[in-house]
Amino acid sequence: MTFSEMVANRRSVRKFLDRKVEQEKIEQILRDTLTAPSSKNCRSTRIAVTQDATILDHISRMRSYGSTFVREAPMAFILMADASNTDLWRENCAISATMLQLSAEALGLGSCWVHVDGRPHREEEPNGLNAEEYLHEVIPATAPYRILCVVAVGYPETTPKPHSPKDDSDKVIWL
Ligand SMILES: Cc1cc2nc3c(=O)[nH]c(=O)nc-3n(C[C@H](O)[C@H](O)[C@H](O)COP(=O)(O)O)c2cc1C
Repeated sequence: MTFSEMVANRRSVRKFLDRKVEQEKIEQILRDTLTAPSSKNCRSTRIAVTQDATILDHISRMRSYGSTFVREAPMAFILMADASNTDLWRENCAISATMLQLSAEALGLGSCWVHVDGRPHREEEPNGLNAEEYLHEVIPATAPYRILCVVAVGYPETTPKPHSPKDDSDKVIWL
């Protein structure tokens, strides 16, 4: 499959088979993710990896909606950053997360981004705990790190159909 075919077929996957992701694949994903470009090559992205059911359950409860499916995922990556040496940690981290999703796709795995940064833990309490603070409860050793998002990964239970081809000509400005 070409790169273009792969990205055209990629869809977010939120339902996974009850099957562990092999350690070699996890390590390949980490290597690929850490090749991501970063501002001034500061390499600010940090990644926590978990296959722990208790932690996956904690992640699934981090927001009022949009994260529940993580409870049934076999594993997740928490995309974080050492924000002490760059103001572009979000940009760096987003590129890393994208790289991670494409790496997972290339390895026959499905994935879905779950956003953390700037989101409340409970929608009805916008000034209360935020999702990032809530997540730090399970990663205390990395508490100084900022968290952008979580990417859940696993073998897809079903493969969503690719998006139908669109006329995106209005999104491009030829100069
Ligand atoms: C910045 C960003 C935040 C996202 N946040 C969530 C989320 O919190 N929960 C979720 O289920 N999906 C989330 N997604 C996945 C999007 O909903 C999904 O990519 C979009 O609907 C397009 O579908 P596709 O990935 O299948 O093409 C997020 C994606 C991005 C890029």
